[in-house]
Amino acid sequence: MKHISIIGAGTMGNGIAHTFAQFDYKVSLIDVTKDNLDKGIATITRNLDRMVSKEKISEDDKKRTLANITTFTSIADGAKNADLVVEAATENEKIKLDIFRELDKVCPSEAILSSNTSSIPITKIAAVTNRPKQVIGMHFMNPVPIMKLVEIIRGYNTSDEVTKTVVDLSKNLGKVPTEVNDYPGFVANRILMPMINEAVETLYNNVAGVQEIDTVMKLGMAHPMGPLQLADFIGLDVCLSILEVMYDGFKNPKYAPCPLLVNMVRAGKLGVKSGEGFYDYSENKKAEKVSSQFAS
Ligand SMILES: NC(=O)c1ccc[n+]([C@@H]2O[C@H](COP(=O)([O-])OP(=O)(O)OC[C@H]3O[C@@H](n4cnc5c(N)ncnc54)[C@H](O)[C@@H]3O)[C@@H](O)[C@H]2O)c1
Repeated sequence: MKHISIIGAGTMGNGIAHTFAQFDYKVSLIDVTKDNLDKGIATITRNLDRMVSKEKISEDDKKRTLANITTFTSIADGAKNADLVVEAATENEKIKLDIFRELDKVCPSEAILSSNTSSIPITKIAAVTNRPKQVIGMHFMNPVPIMKLVEIIRGYNTSDEVTKTVVDLSKNLGKVPTEVNDYPGFVANRILMPMINEAVETLYNNVAGVQEIDTVMKLGMAHPMGPLQLADFIGLDVCLSILEVMYDGFKNPKYAPCPLLVNMVRAGKLGVKSGEGFYDYSENKKAEKVSSQFAS
């Protein structure tokens, strides 16, 4: 395992690229436009600068990490030498299935194809390839360079050997891989999303305000941040789409997204990435809130 191709240079993709590159893997970072890639590299550079200023890494480590990353706007060019692909493109089933069809054609036959999807079944993704034994979920958490968990999702056909390789690789990144089976929401989101949805429902029912709901969960349950703020960081569109996958997958009304969440996404209030969600992240407030959350 030396060459890692990452598809998508957004929130998760740039964090995953940063992490592999910091541990000296050769990373090919792929996105649809040069502009997205430039933004991804700018974020990685900013995050490395913060680590240097906190003396967690040296200036040389930063330079070495950046030198390990090459960018591509074509999957064929960026994935042709991959030992492992980590797909972290937009959470949309059609986009992901198209990407995996292409990866199956262009990657070496022994390459492992993984997805960072929050909710799309790994077995469904694997089924569009000719190598379902080599398709697996690697669900990293945000922010990737800091968060320890990697939820490893075994599809119906994923082999023991591939699972072991991916578990060992995750340990080499200083992460704690945790194996789960392929059912809607896996484990992390199956438990987290109903909590976030219930927090939105509590707001919708006017039981309490945003600050009050988050304060109860932070101070009462020792959560590092409240569920509404966490939803803002994840992206309200991402939360909605995960709930819809679980609602559809289990055919159980307990996963039905709260109408307020649906309305906020329709109105473009997506959380941190759009500048407003349950909280206001407009320029002057954004720096203060984001840095206080990710200070560690
Ligand atoms: N945001 C989170 O907290 C979080 C946590 C865990 C997992 N995830 C999952 O990670 C994945 C990425 O989420 P994100 O929050 O980084 O999204 P994002 O919107 O920040 O980034 C997605 C990137 O994928 C790129 N992309 C779309 N189609 C592409 C294609 N065909 N080829 C190459 N690049 C393409 C987009 O241009 C964009 O830059 C999703 O599957 C999401 O469910 C997100």
